Amino acid sequence: MNRVTPTQGRPRLGVRDDFPILATRHDGPPLTYLDNAATTHKPRAVLDAIVGHYSTANSNIGRGHYGLSMTATERYEQARGYVREVLGARHPDEIVFTQGTTAATNLLAEVFGARVVGAGDQVVVTGMEHNSNLLPWRRLCERVGAELVTVPVNARGRVEAADFNAALGPRVRLAAVAHVSNVLGTVNPVRAMIADAHRHGVPVVVDAPRPFRTGRWTSRSWAPTSTASPATRSTDRWAWACCTADASCSASCPPTRSGEGR
Ligand SMILES: Cc1ncc(COP(=O)(O)O)c(C=O)c1O
Repeated sequence: MNRVTPTQGRPRLGVRDDFPILATRHDGPPLTYLDNAATTHKPRAVLDAIVGHYSTANSNIGRGHYGLSMTATERYEQARGYVREVLGARHPDEIVFTQGTTAATNLLAEVFGARVVGAGDQVVVTGMEHNSNLLPWRRLCERVGAELVTVPVNARGRVEAADFNAALGPRVRLAAVAHVSNVLGTVNPVRAMIADAHRHGVPVVVDAPRPFRTGRWTSRSWAPTSTASPATRSTDRWAWACCTADASCSASCPPTRSGEGR
């Protein structure tokens, strides 16, 4: 295991100060961390909030009728309201907290996908999907006897609008597209893709963890059916990773588990 020591006497560089871990050394120069796509570090404000929660409010949410539990529930719902605002969802009920993006797409495939996709139908993805936005749809298609249609990526690493539109035939029940490709860095024109799909009556799931991490989030104007996004992986995953599901999606989804508070 690496030896970790705090750095001393270094010039303060603004944003570095927000991340205590960047003030550590790991058998080398002060930490410079570039693996944010995999795991993003937590800023001090988040660490303080987590410690603050466990120090002052940790309790059952949504099912306790005593003061501490009600405080925890209130704060949890405040967080949901904040995430709703950031995501541009219409109602807090459209925010579903999940463990991560992969958990969100699996949930969408198992609950919403299984509702709208049946034998002989098609699900459209692109050739640049992350496994987390490919395998859940492939598994769904195998399970219900549907076909997974992959729109090709051209030599410039892009999906041609004409190819995407051509894939939106009468058997398509759902499209699942990445906003930003994790392999190519391509930013897909998701707003136009959603508009195209909606013209064919096809709901769209957008796999969008990267725009969050890079601050390029514009869902307010996209109107996707659903998005899978960890608001940022730098925060406690249970508290932030989420998917949004608009009314048409959430109304058609049965509960996945029963017996809990909500
Ligand atoms: C485009 C894309 N989708 C999905 C994921 C999976 O995210 P998570 O680790 O939150 O499940 C990633 C991870 O980097 C990604 O880049």
